[in-house]
Amino acid sequence: MSAETPHAEAPPVNRYTTTARINHWITAVSLVLLALSGLALFHPSLFFFTYLFGGGQLTRALHPWIGVVLAVSFLGLFFRFFTLNFWKREDTVWMKNLGAVINNKEEGLPELGKYNAGQKLVFWGQSILILVLFCSGIVLWDTYFADVISIDQKRLAAVAHALCAIAAILIWIVHVYAAIWVKGTLRAMTRGSVTGGWAWKHHRKWFRQEVGKP
Ligand code: HEM
Repeated sequence: MSAETPHAEAPPVNRYTTTARINHWITAVSLVLLALSGLALFHPSLFFFTYLFGGGQLTRALHPWIGVVLAVSFLGLFFRFFTLNFWKREDTVWMKNLGAVINNKEEGLPELGKYNAGQKLVFWGQSILILVLFCSGIVLWDTYFADVISIDQKRLAAVAHALCAIAAILIWIVHVYAAIWVKGTLRAMTRGSVTGGWAWKHHRKWFRQEVGKP
């Protein structure tokens, strides 16, 4: 047990319910499938990704439906977590000391609740991007909406859709990298719990609330 993590051998702390984890993994899988099918439709050099979806026509037909799954699934995550992602004063301090955080010197920084500023930025970033992706995707969905959408509206939607998709993929990469980089984080979404040491080190205010619960 190190001085930094005095609760390393404490019992695990519950972080996510099974339904929250299923909700998260449906979101994760649909975003990966959307990225692959979307990139396949975006540029001829990436057309080979259509093999994963049974060919070009099937990719074109499936992509918007997977988008609907992502939108509904993310809405579930949104309502589960939005109150925990409100920006607090300690988040600004945390952001200003990002260098110290990356160098594993979080001691001395304000104690954090369930999420840190980076996680909150990922949350709000994906919330806005998925909303724009969904709306612009509807505009581009010729099968159902071609009759009510003008060419100019489609042009604008195509640019917004591509730009937001690139941003969402970049944020997804940061999210996965952070989940792997901060040791002990992945099990929160696989097993539903974290070690007491992890909670004490990274989210002490949340840890104090959890251990205070009956
Ligand atoms: C496929 C790769 C993914 C992995 C490995 C992954 C991993 C994780 C892990 C480990 C956590 C728990 C972090 C913690 O409790 O401290 C988490 C939380 C979360 N993830 Fe993911 N995730 C992935 C994809 C996604 C995608 C695609 C989205 C949304 C577009 C997403 C949205 C979230 C949200 C909203 C949370 C809760 C954090 C918050 O509300 O700020 N994840 N993820």
